Amino acid sequence: MAQLRAFAEGSRQAGRRLGLVPTMGALHAGHLQLVAAAAAACDDVVASIFVNPTQFNNADDLRLYPRLPEQDTALLAGAGCTALFMPGVEEVYPQPTVLRFDFGPLERVMEGAHRPGHFNGVATVVSKLFHMARPHAAYFGQKDFQQVAIVRQLIADLSFDLELVVAPTIREADGLAMSSRNRRLSPEARAVAPLIYQVLQTAAQQVRQGVPPAQVQAQALAALAAEPQFTPEYVEVADAQTLQPLAGYEAGRAVVLCVAAHLGGVRLIDNVVVE
Ligand code: PAF
Repeated sequence: MAQLRAFAEGSRQAGRRLGLVPTMGALHAGHLQLVAAAAAACDDVVASIFVNPTQFNNADDLRLYPRLPEQDTALLAGAGCTALFMPGVEEVYPQPTVLRFDFGPLERVMEGAHRPGHFNGVATVVSKLFHMARPHAAYFGQKDFQQVAIVRQLIADLSFDLELVVAPTIREADGLAMSSRNRRLSPEARAVAPLIYQVLQTAAQQVRQGVPPAQVQAQALAALAAEPQFTPEYVEVADAQTLQPLAGYEAGRAVVLCVAAHLGGVRLIDNVVVE
């Protein structure tokens, strides 16, 4: 922590623009895109790698989360990162936090509803990182659509003086959204994983055609459940700003389609926005 503070302070005092890319490691092209975007716009780029225990509500998910520090360090060095912050749990949490975040309706849906405490953990660690690094800009991926909404709210409510930069989801050639958890998919599971994006694309088409949200949702859930390896957790047709489920469409308001599904013991999420 002290090292991160000192580096960030030195960077600020030298009048340099500092970008922060928070990650949990097991880096892929999506993360490297964030680092590249930060490197293009900032003089210094700090990446953090910390598998944050407080945002996991499933002990196995935390235990099995991929950890590849050497590989990640090499990737970051080649991607334009100037400083790496890779703390241990005691460094970030010298004592259990008592502060609790409540983002209201924004977190009562989707990930927040299905992973109790998840966004409290995310907001806690992201706030700590923002306080320590005091970046001019922070970089997040759109794959975690609800996380971006939560972080935007956090920045507004706590008056963090920084720019939030959101980069588009990077996909494999077959459409699967890049995710650190993809590494845990068996070959059989990996072969059917692109179904999530296919289902989202069909749903997006239906939204554009004005098919009612409930029907879009039911058909998408059925299409996922038709593949025996999948156990869908939710499909939501929601307002892209409030994240609340839609009963109908309103002209000029973007729609977000979000999916969470279990595939061979791995939980995957994805989304597409229909403008
Ligand atoms: O998106 C992630 O990898 C994590 O939620 C984050 C933002 C690094 C906080 O631990």
